[in-house]
Amino acid sequence: MARPQSSAPITVALLGGGTVGAEVARRLVSGGSDLSSRVGAPVVLTQIAVQDTARSRPGIDPSILTADAQAVATSGADVVVELIGGIEPARQLILEAMRAGSSVVTANKALLAADGAVLYAEAARCGVDLFFEASVAGAIPLLRPLRESLAGDHVTKVIGIVNGTTNYILTQMDEQGAGYASALAEAQELGYAEADPTADVEGLDAAAKAAILAELAFHSRVTDKDVFCEGIAQVTAADITAARDMGFVIKLLAVAELVRDEQQRATGIIVRVHPAMVPRSHPLASVRGSFNAVYVHADAAGELMFYGRGAGGAPTASAVLGDIVAAARNKVAGVRDVGESTYANLPILDIGQSLTCYYVNLEVDDRPGVLASIAKAFAEHGVSIQVVRQDGNAQATSGASLFVRTHQATDSALRATVESLRQLDTVKHVRGVMRVEGEVGE
Ligand code: NDP
Ligand code: HSE
Repeated sequence: MARPQSSAPITVALLGGGTVGAEVARRLVSGGSDLSSRVGAPVVLTQIAVQDTARSRPGIDPSILTADAQAVATSGADVVVELIGGIEPARQLILEAMRAGSSVVTANKALLAADGAVLYAEAARCGVDLFFEASVAGAIPLLRPLRESLAGDHVTKVIGIVNGTTNYILTQMDEQGAGYASALAEAQELGYAEADPTADVEGLDAAAKAAILAELAFHSRVTDKDVFCEGIAQVTAADITAARDMGFVIKLLAVAELVRDEQQRATGIIVRVHPAMVPRSHPLASVRGSFNAVYVHADAAGELMFYGRGAGGAPTASAVLGDIVAAARNKVAGVRDVGESTYANLPILDIGQSLTCYYVNLEVDDRPGVLASIAKAFAEHGVSIQVVRQDGNAQATSGASLFVRTHQATDSALRATVESLRQLDTVKHVRGVMRVEGEVGE
């Protein structure tokens, strides 16, 4: 049975009609009858602000296009949906929409991670909703489960693949032997990449998402500046081949973890984004192309896995439309959701305290005593070696390639070890250092 329809329609206005916005607009119109039944009032798309109103946009009524984004933001529509991206003018438009009484739906992780606190505060002050499910992991329902379903539990770690573009690139390089540049161009063509794709490949997009996840998971203020961030630009075809030879695949991971003391009291948060070697047997290794997957570890729930399409117009539109329905239902009921809480107020800890296993790839002399000198450097910094593999001179111009896999070590101990290795005359070159995630027992 459909909800009883209230007489007043719910008006929805879009800021942006690009990859995501156009898909939202088309589905709002084609699925309008169902959406209206789910909301309990007719849902009407009133306007779409774009830059170029003359551009052909199949399936979209050109008469509702306008270049006047400010007029759309201040139109007083029940729900304003921001799908322009970036910091300005998106930020100002969202604030103006709230001040005009509109609830806001956005997919803008860059803005939320940079200035979320201001937006949440303004939403509360104006008595409107601010929903942003699509900002992290595209179609995957992830933020609402964190905010609502897990509100009674204690989340201890969130780890996953949250950027479709880089996962697409790494998958193409691993499976097809594709070049980095051509794989990136394909990801752009498919509508996965940000307007400036350096945000994807440098890890900034994933870092923004990691900040949003950490803030919700740990009830503490986290911004993009709090996230340790390394992208995939330095990952070479040789790294990918070496990882494959050792039974690993390289993924760009986002990790947000709670640090606890011996009494199990939370002492802080570490948030990091970086490429990592993941065992091929781990479920994250089979997350291919633009798909995302996120594990959430919680005290009572244990381990939860969320999986689905993380980028692209239609998958992202699904999450945006879900938020539109939620905001519209609240408008019909005359209520707003409870806003974000940062009551725990945990400090952000330095990456140096982060515990991970590592692979260190060295080019070394191939003579007696070399291994002993290298083992000593690790031992001096308290870094325990798990596996050592020597590959004749497969990669080395002379001497041998040495792969050292460590047990869990702090980032600072590992950095100090690598510094010592660089000083050894037996080590010609530190070819690479990469974190390892997802191993059993670590
Ligand atoms: P696009 O670049 O495809 O679309 C941006 C839209 O905004 C375009 O319609 C553009 O107009 C319009 N626009 C830009 N500046 C202005 C302005 N000053 N006034 C009015 N309109 C303007 O971006 P996406 O659709 O890919 O992304 C939108 C948002 O969704 C971003 O925050 C992004 O991070 C996020 N997102 C994107 C995902 C994806 O897979 N693409 C997935 C999840 C989130 P015109 O069309 O005329 O150029
Ligand atoms: N550029 C982003 C990605 C879009 O590739 O994941 C989805 O947020």
